[in-house]
Amino acid sequence: MPEVKRLLILGGTAEAAELARRAGESWAGRLEVVTSLAGRLEPRRDLAGRVRRGGFGGADGLARFLDDQSIDWLVDATHPFAEAISAHAHAACGTSGVPRLVLARPPWRRAPEDDWREADDMAGAVRILPGLGKRAFLSVGPGSARAFSQVEGVWFLVRVIEPPRHPLPLDEHTVITGHPPFTVYDERLLIAEHRIDVLVTKNSGGVATEAKLSAARGAGIPVVMVKRPPPPPGHLVDNVEAALEWLESRL
Ligand SMILES: NC(=O)c1ccc[n+]([C@@H]2O[C@H](COP(=O)([O-])OP(=O)(O)OC[C@H]3O[C@@H](n4cnc5c(N)ncnc54)[C@H](OP(=O)(O)O)[C@@H]3O)[C@@H](O)[C@H]2O)c1
Repeated sequence: MPEVKRLLILGGTAEAAELARRAGESWAGRLEVVTSLAGRLEPRRDLAGRVRRGGFGGADGLARFLDDQSIDWLVDATHPFAEAISAHAHAACGTSGVPRLVLARPPWRRAPEDDWREADDMAGAVRILPGLGKRAFLSVGPGSARAFSQVEGVWFLVRVIEPPRHPLPLDEHTVITGHPPFTVYDERLLIAEHRIDVLVTKNSGGVATEAKLSAARGAGIPVVMVKRPPPPPGHLVDNVEAALEWLESRL
């Protein structure tokens, strides 16, 4: 009987879920797949393999988890804007010697007809927004939406996956819930219905939430695009196929 190896996927993205499914199918009986989620949202029901939820307690806690659970490899497939957990994974794998791969989908690229105003971070987006519109579609997640609390004279349409636990500290706003993927048709409707004149988004990349960019392009409205933070150090791939190849070379 070959020894069963253990893979920890730091998840919370579509790519993490796809990797869990495909790695589990490819090496059934040889590889145990554990996905870790922050645990703030209800986990998707179709997640393959074992799932654990909740923080580890910083880099030290994650290093202990890697040791206690005899993890052989770690794939950091968290969202490109989830900086803390990626930094902790880098540090923890350095301490424990567990090989680590970063899986991050490619960022969106500007099309020639796009009117993008790029901001280096959320604070930069807050600074440029007031000059661009009066009715903003804020598609940055509830945590980042709070950064816009000082903005005056702009009404916000805030879309979140689950209703926020606490009211958002925004002046005039409406919260709607929705689960990706979204279609261009739906996004166009939303922009028209709420008379949106500017879209604010992180450059998350991926197909599930890309439709809002086509809809903004079609409506001729500007997009405040928050650039990604630099990726964590280490070997990085931008698709699940390449992550599977990385694993195969080690199994
Ligand atoms: N940021 C986004 O825009 C975004 C968008 C879509 C999905 N997500 C997903 O949502 C989760 C949280 O994102 P975030 O930006 O709040 O993260 P973050 O700021 O990097 O992490 C904050 C803390 O949450 C815990 N944590 C985060 N991801 C975890 C995971 N996969 N497993 C276990 N603990 C985790 C860690 O707690 P401890 O220090 O206690 O270990 C971490 O220090 C991530 O898994 C990410 O993939 C984020």
